[in-house]
Amino acid sequence: MMRVLVLGAAAGGGLPQWNCGCECCRCARRGERGVVPQTQSSIAASADGQSWILCNASPDLRQQLTATPALQPRDLRHTPVAAVVLTNADVDHVAGLLSLRERQPFTLAASARVHAALAASRIFDVLQPDCVARVELVLDRPARLAGLEVTPFAVPGKVALYLEDPAAGPGLGSQSGDTVALAVRNPATGEQFFYAPACSALTPELAARLRGAELVLFDGTTWQDDELIAAGLGTKTAGRMGHLSMSGEGGSLAAFRDLEVKRRVFIHMNNSNPVWLADSPQRAAVRDAGWEIARDGMEIEL
Ligand code: MLT
Ligand code: MN
Ligand code: ZN
Repeated sequence: MMRVLVLGAAAGGGLPQWNCGCECCRCARRGERGVVPQTQSSIAASADGQSWILCNASPDLRQQLTATPALQPRDLRHTPVAAVVLTNADVDHVAGLLSLRERQPFTLAASARVHAALAASRIFDVLQPDCVARVELVLDRPARLAGLEVTPFAVPGKVALYLEDPAAGPGLGSQSGDTVALAVRNPATGEQFFYAPACSALTPELAARLRGAELVLFDGTTWQDDELIAAGLGTKTAGRMGHLSMSGEGGSLAAFRDLEVKRRVFIHMNNSNPVWLADSPQRAAVRDAGWEIARDGMEIEL
């Protein structure tokens, strides 16, 4: 068995986002059109329900732990969180580390590139080395964490926004390991799922890896590539931000159509994404294509 908990289903900014008056954010504030507020991007997984890994540490982590009994202390000083695994160094995936600074031992696992980003920000030194072991994840090499086997692999994407280097050309200085997806497996039973909250293209190689999977949690940031531009909310396409839109010819709905993934769950939805609106045609299209929309508190058992 393996348990997966969605701690935060929304992209950076959350739903509603503090400075946003878009339709989804307004509905989240008012409780309209079936929109329920959602926290920022993170999941937890466990083989035994006792010891857990967090995949990404959201700025909302403290609130997420408070809402999740399985992740609460069972002793005077204790946490079921044995390890935190990072898929990139984006603010919505690392800021929560600062909420884990109370001298609690755990393992912090990430690629060398992501560790370097953390090491360059002295504020993360609050996770003291005698307490928090920083373990390097090597691409395509399984790591044993909390009884689970976690294998990071490169997916198309980019370096964190605050590390972008426009002088470095179209890749903005992105290197291998800046954005990874995870295969998480229970070695005792063979159950496995994939977690890819940021991925800008479904390459043939990635499609082959995901084909026939039991469960994939995949980047659902936007419905359409120019969503932020069309809504007057921003100037970047999803592709420019390192994300693959749901709709469109090369979008994720089309790309997954023949992959025979048994359970497909969109995660890391931006608040601009109309799939948050329960009555939207986009939500219906996603559902008709066999996808689920993650939500805070969602539990999946494999
Ligand atoms: C993203 O997913 O594109 C990033 O979280 C954006 C950000 O860091 O604000
Ligand atoms: Mn993000
Ligand atoms: Zn909004």
